Amino acid sequence: TLMYTELEKLLDNTTEAEKEVYEKDFDGFKNLFHRFLQVKGPSVEWIKIKRPPEDSIQPYEKIAARGLPDNMAESLNKLVVVKLNGGLGTSMGCKGPKSLISVRNENTFLDLTVQQIEHLNKTYNTDVPLVLMNSFNTDEDTKKTLQKYTHHRVKIHTFNQSRYPRINKESLLPMATNLSTSGHNTEGWYPPGHGDIYASFYNSGLLDQLIKQGKEYIFVSNIDNLGATVDLNILHHLTSQPNGKRCEFIMEVTDKTRADVKGGTLIQYDGKLRLLEIAQVPKAHVDEFKSVSKFKIFNTNNLWISLAAIKRLQEQKAMDLEIIVNPKTLDGGQNVIQLETAVGAAIKCFDNALGINVPRSRFLPVKTTSDLLLVMSNLYSLEAGSLTMSPKREFPTTPHVKLGSSFTKVQEYLMRFESIPDMLELDHLTVSGDVTFGKNVSLKGTVIIIANHGDRIDIPAGSMLENKIVSGNLRI
Ligand code: UTP
Repeated sequence: TLMYTELEKLLDNTTEAEKEVYEKDFDGFKNLFHRFLQVKGPSVEWIKIKRPPEDSIQPYEKIAARGLPDNMAESLNKLVVVKLNGGLGTSMGCKGPKSLISVRNENTFLDLTVQQIEHLNKTYNTDVPLVLMNSFNTDEDTKKTLQKYTHHRVKIHTFNQSRYPRINKESLLPMATNLSTSGHNTEGWYPPGHGDIYASFYNSGLLDQLIKQGKEYIFVSNIDNLGATVDLNILHHLTSQPNGKRCEFIMEVTDKTRADVKGGTLIQYDGKLRLLEIAQVPKAHVDEFKSVSKFKIFNTNNLWISLAAIKRLQEQKAMDLEIIVNPKTLDGGQNVIQLETAVGAAIKCFDNALGINVPRSRFLPVKTTSDLLLVMSNLYSLEAGSLTMSPKREFPTTPHVKLGSSFTKVQEYLMRFESIPDMLELDHLTVSGDVTFGKNVSLKGTVIIIANHGDRIDIPAGSMLENKIVSGNLRI
């Protein structure tokens, strides 16, 4: 209660409109914090975890084999595309929303999304709207750029996710000292993870508005996943289920490789499909969780969800998503925790939930400049906002790229490439230290370039490096 009194004090000096939003956030936070205090022990008992039943994760090919109906537009008109847009570009050294980083030919994540949906609307003569879930960190900058899409054939809506106070790790008291999130107080608050979508979407009134317009499903994905395009086969599957067997939730999963051992996986638990995240796994079982053989698939965070079901579950207050406790150290050195939830964790609450094992191409996240290099290169071609792997690539897999810390920030990374190298025949690239690339460099096979501390390596324009290690003046 000391915690709540502290927070309630902040309510003074606010306008009525602010108060309403703040009170909703406060209620949500109280609920989450209360659940956090009650939780004892791990959220899953390891021995109760079962492999999902055979038919609960369907291969994409099986769903696609049915083909598409003539009236695809009818299903499309029931669809809303939602992008999770609460996150910043900090990990790539950018200020502002991550969605506003340029990823290909000057197009940002947001530009590509708009182009994709516009293309769909023009092709099928439909009205699929785009909804952005912003956070207090991204709302202002995002809204400013939305003006440039006024003449595009996509209706764009936004709503804000909640804003919760960070909590001091020892005292469990809120860090926030006033309601502002500017000036010296930016560190007091945080957006509580994408699992917040259900409550915020509902509270914003937009969910009801879309239902009234005849919309039935949302397709939700991370805005930084360039592979998350509207898939017509999945949409058709969703809208053609017989009554009574209506599937309220589809999670797109894909085969795990050794590179993605940390992603959440689907399990059967208490008779329902559940998302199991690494944070929920007892220490003794972490290796087992990471193994590619036991848990074969992971969550891409591409989700298809029934709007009516979200409304029902919100009204019944029936969503108890597992709490992820995220510890952080603030710039001032204080240790805090922030309580978060994940959107995919809700799968257990929905009826007839299903996993679909999709091709890897539907999972193309850009988390680092190494990912960015791949999507900027000739490995992909861009068409109507969608990236597809170039047919000139002989192997279906993408190369493994590891750029060192001098490449972490987008600005610096861009300055180090006069043009993006030809990577069609590349398998593996490691670059470390002060390295620059001239125009029209071509990389093949395995290439390792290491500039030692104090040295600099400039790869000359027009070079072709094939199975080469370049280090200092030494060339092998
Ligand atoms: P992250 O970039 O944080 O995700 O957010 P991640 O590292 O892939 O891992 P998961 O999916 O959280 O396990 C993924 C997407 O969710 C949005 C981000 O903007 C990004 O598009 N996001 C994240 C929000 O919209 N709100 C949040 O509170 C957190």
